[in-house]
Amino acid sequence: MMNDGTTLDISEPEMKATLQYGSVAGNQELRHWLIDLQHRLHSPPLLESGNELNTTDLIMTTGCTEGIEKVLEAVMEEGDMILTETFTYPCLFNLITPLGVKAVPVRSDDEGMLPSALDNVLSTWREQTSGRRPKVLYCIPSAANPTGVTWSMARKKDIYNVARHYGLLILEDDPYYMMQFSRPRVPSFLSLDTDGRVIRLDTFSKILSAGIRLGFMTGPKQILERVQLHMEVSSVHGGNLAQIMILKVLQQMHYEGFMAHGDTVSDFYQERCEKALKLTKKHLTGLAEWRVPHGGIFLWLRMLGSSNSTEVIRKAHEKGATFTDGAFFMKEGKPCEYIRMSYSLIDDQDMETAVKILASVLREEGNQDGQENPENKDLHD
Ligand SMILES: Cc1ncc(COP(=O)(O)O)c(C=O)c1O
Repeated sequence: MMNDGTTLDISEPEMKATLQYGSVAGNQELRHWLIDLQHRLHSPPLLESGNELNTTDLIMTTGCTEGIEKVLEAVMEEGDMILTETFTYPCLFNLITPLGVKAVPVRSDDEGMLPSALDNVLSTWREQTSGRRPKVLYCIPSAANPTGVTWSMARKKDIYNVARHYGLLILEDDPYYMMQFSRPRVPSFLSLDTDGRVIRLDTFSKILSAGIRLGFMTGPKQILERVQLHMEVSSVHGGNLAQIMILKVLQQMHYEGFMAHGDTVSDFYQERCEKALKLTKKHLTGLAEWRVPHGGIFLWLRMLGSSNSTEVIRKAHEKGATFTDGAFFMKEGKPCEYIRMSYSLIDDQDMETAVKILASVLREEGNQDGQENPENKDLHD
């Protein structure tokens, strides 16, 4: 039953089919629904219409994480390198290490990865000394974990052009796409992809349920075919019950309801974000700086008086507040100036207590005066 009292029915034949092994690509009806969604949201130049769906254009996954894993396992070889932002989703490091793949960090600014930095890494690459030139770029272009940055459209176009020049595959991990605060949302890499070099990963984790473990991968047929073959031998498929449940919910919502729900989720987190910004301004001014997130659930703080994120996290934890160490998001991470604050579900009072604890730790760590740093101003205004 839905919150509004609507009952969703799974018919007997549907249930019988659900309880058997299914297709690796996923529930056909759900895939059609999602193909239609991708058309409406991204107008992917290469994606065919729902009715002519080739089974390899959109594959269900058990979430973005499985999507990353399966793509990398299918396309990477031991000794390969993968391009990432300097600070990125730590799970990527966990996934590449057993594959014998290494990350190559590329610098970013407030609009996303820097095309000049990416070009510089690739144009100066010497295979004799550094190994095979990277062929995959991994990115989190909306409200990134951990930085909160949403890549601008201009930046995506520039990065896409660099990727085209060097023949890169772009792995677009976009769990926070619907959680962008501004509308219209910044279009995806998939919407730019005329070459067939983008694999896009979506998930229901952030908008419907994380525990249901369901996501989907959209991309060029030839590559998804390889990924699907790999999935067939490595994981069979995710749970059919989760797929039919999500299908029923989506069919009940229709596209318009799904979008309205996405807006509600995004508005909820924007309100939490504004609260977090008020508190950081009140208690951390002069002790840290930050940029205003354009979506998602994270505030990325640069400490002004300490470059030992690990120590700050430890002390804050001892006093009862949990933040995440910036080192965690870096290749071979070492203590640094950055920590991540999550403002998603914590209530206002606990959030203020946690921010005050952090302020006290930062004061102890050396930045004693607590004065407004003029350079800080435009970062939180
Ligand atoms: C960038 C990024 N990718 C993937 C995930 C995990 O997504 P899923 O639950 O769909 O596996 C997260 C969740 O924290 C994330 O931040």
